[in-house]
Amino acid sequence: MIAKFAKFLSQPSIQNLSRDGLLKLDPETAHRLTINAIKFGAVAPQETSDPKFFETEIAGLTLKNPIGMAAGFDKNGEVANQLSDIGFGFCEVGTLTPRPQDGNPKPRLFRLPEKQGVINRMGFNNEGHLAVYERLTRNKQAGVTIGINVGANKDSADFVADYVEGVTRFASIADYLTINISSPNTPGLRDLQSGEALKRLLGEALNARAKALVRVPVFLKLAPDLTEIEMDEIVGVIKQVDLDGLIISNTTLSRDQVANCVHADEKGGLSGKPLFNFSTMRLAQMRMRVGTDMPIIGVGGIHSAQSAIAKFAAGANAIQLYSALVFGGMELLRDIKNGLTVKIRKDKLDNVGQMTSSDVESWASGKAQL
Ligand code: FNR
Repeated sequence: MIAKFAKFLSQPSIQNLSRDGLLKLDPETAHRLTINAIKFGAVAPQETSDPKFFETEIAGLTLKNPIGMAAGFDKNGEVANQLSDIGFGFCEVGTLTPRPQDGNPKPRLFRLPEKQGVINRMGFNNEGHLAVYERLTRNKQAGVTIGINVGANKDSADFVADYVEGVTRFASIADYLTINISSPNTPGLRDLQSGEALKRLLGEALNARAKALVRVPVFLKLAPDLTEIEMDEIVGVIKQVDLDGLIISNTTLSRDQVANCVHADEKGGLSGKPLFNFSTMRLAQMRMRVGTDMPIIGVGGIHSAQSAIAKFAAGANAIQLYSALVFGGMELLRDIKNGLTVKIRKDKLDNVGQMTSSDVESWASGKAQL
């Protein structure tokens, strides 16, 4: 009975209807309904497996395709297996804090439909390490790539200790870990991006990783709101430590692209289409600084196949998305895969990875824009 109902719900016409319906609901309610719909099988799985040319090696991981679900969608690790069935190459769970946390008062999530943007000040609402660790231990399926994104409790006396706890807790179950110091919604968190603080944080977090039984890759997730000097400082630190990769970027505090839009004055981080050019420029600027070898996951404003291709060109080895799914639905994933396939065939590439860094300089200088 449930399977039949799920099949009915997964028809394309019903999915369009439901997407339009979701856009009429308050955004947080829509998000909860979407998680439940995915959990109960109402979003159709991808029918065929990915072509071999989508297979991506990054930081020692093999992804079936390089398109991941960004952190913040499946904060509590409820639907990572289903997202893999739907066609995502990996899913980043979290941000998780040691203790459960309610996050900021509602409303805290806003759509900017004219620009296909989203502003959030969720404030790391999550069930905490233990609950999610137990859920993933019970449910994680072989072949599903899950990153665990860790952060700090808002009222923590020692932010660094919270990250160390996250690394220790999840090292054995995560395929990779993300140290997230780029959320604008936990006061003081972004200060960890600066020189000495970053050195101490990465030193202790990577030390905790070294004590774990397996060597799990560790990524650092950065904000786009960084100056040239701050980027230099970050690169100075990461070159001295055994970090596996970067995720660029989180949401922005800038409102330049959405001035005068409804909700533009809400506090929080802006994501979605209006973030695309800015975050892609930062990605390319960091690619120029770290060289060709460091893995970078590019995220921020991907909303089409063309923008996904541009993210690779600017220096990404893999990509993630979230906000555009609010407006485009899960069909966006299929559209991106179709667009990448056309490009791979047209350019006679053997693998999607050959798109990486084909246009870094134009993106880094700000000349390239979508
Ligand atoms: C986020 N993002 C986020 N990132 C993170 O590292 N930890 C988190 O808990 C969250 N939470 C979160 C909630 C909501 C509602 C949104 C919209 C975003 C940021 C996200 O992972 C991503 O970096 C940015 O949203 C940019 O990508 P998109 O959304 O423009 O594709």
